[in-house]
Amino acid sequence: MKIDGTTSVLVHLAYPAAHLQTPQLFNPRCAERGLNAVLVPWQVAPEHLSTTMETLRRAESVAGAIVTIPHKETSARLCDRLEGVAAILQVANVIRREADGTLTGRILDGEGFVGGLRRNGVDPAGASVLLVGAGGVALAIAAALIEAGVSRLAVLNRTRARAEAMILRLERLAAETGRDVALTVADGPDATGTDLVINATSLGMHAGDALPVDPATLGPGMTVAEVVMVPEVTPLLAAAAERGAGTVPGRAMILGQIDPFMDFVLGGADAPATGTR
Ligand SMILES: NC(=O)c1ccc[n+]([C@@H]2O[C@H](COP(=O)([O-])OP(=O)(O)OC[C@H]3O[C@@H](n4cnc5c(N)ncnc54)[C@H](OP(=O)(O)O)[C@@H]3O)[C@@H](O)[C@H]2O)c1
Repeated sequence: MKIDGTTSVLVHLAYPAAHLQTPQLFNPRCAERGLNAVLVPWQVAPEHLSTTMETLRRAESVAGAIVTIPHKETSARLCDRLEGVAAILQVANVIRREADGTLTGRILDGEGFVGGLRRNGVDPAGASVLLVGAGGVALAIAAALIEAGVSRLAVLNRTRARAEAMILRLERLAAETGRDVALTVADGPDATGTDLVINATSLGMHAGDALPVDPATLGPGMTVAEVVMVPEVTPLLAAAAERGAGTVPGRAMILGQIDPFMDFVLGGADAPATGTR
């Protein structure tokens, strides 16, 4: 990897930043694709996000930013425009700096997740899904699953009111995009009868975490997918494999986003740091 005066700089906005996995994947892939760009971590406290984004507008070497916890919603509000599902959900996880210094945001978490499923041989079209979680990542995944044509989506969350609010947003999204999908709040952690079970919570990151669903209800013919990346085999994935279900690790989701990040921010070409992009 060679950095020179024309290198396009992407910053990874996070707080904290020590756990980030994306730079390690993004930078070798840039080299592989012959893109003169680099992604660097920027640990920014929430109270300084607004000033930092003002800096991005003025820094002509900056092509854009990748955004993660806790900045996805605030950064969307600070963008000049949001595209696609980001405009409906009002969250962004990638931002492009336009040549005039304005900022355009998108959310690629859901696209990355569905891309990861497909690369693991799982097509969600027509599937009945149990999605655990109602945070930002769960919402983006749900939106992408609806776009991918799932037939039924049940949302289970520790805080039921948050799942109910999410279902209302998804109903609006399905109506606006003309998708026919049965949307419900799940009553309990029972995966019986589903094709695809997804953990979109942080459960599984720490030893002693509860399992997101009842493992006795997992079995052959199902796929169990994770968003948690570390450990790579979470207790949920281990329980699913033990009972004969297919598994897709959390890493598949981030791998599914690397090329879309590049294509969105760099235009899929070795764009110069200044000028049209
Ligand atoms: N693989 C990838 O590429 C990738 C990318 C981005 C993020 N992630 C992972 O995605 C996860 C969720 O991120 P997010 O942005 O959606 O976070 P978030 O908005 O804070 O939502 C967290 C979700 O987890 C639930 N939760 C947290 N602790 C729980 C517990 N002890 N028991 C039951 N439920 C619990 C929350 O339930 P309540 O609503 O009840 O609080 C909520 O549904 C994180 O672990 C993050 O590391 C993965």
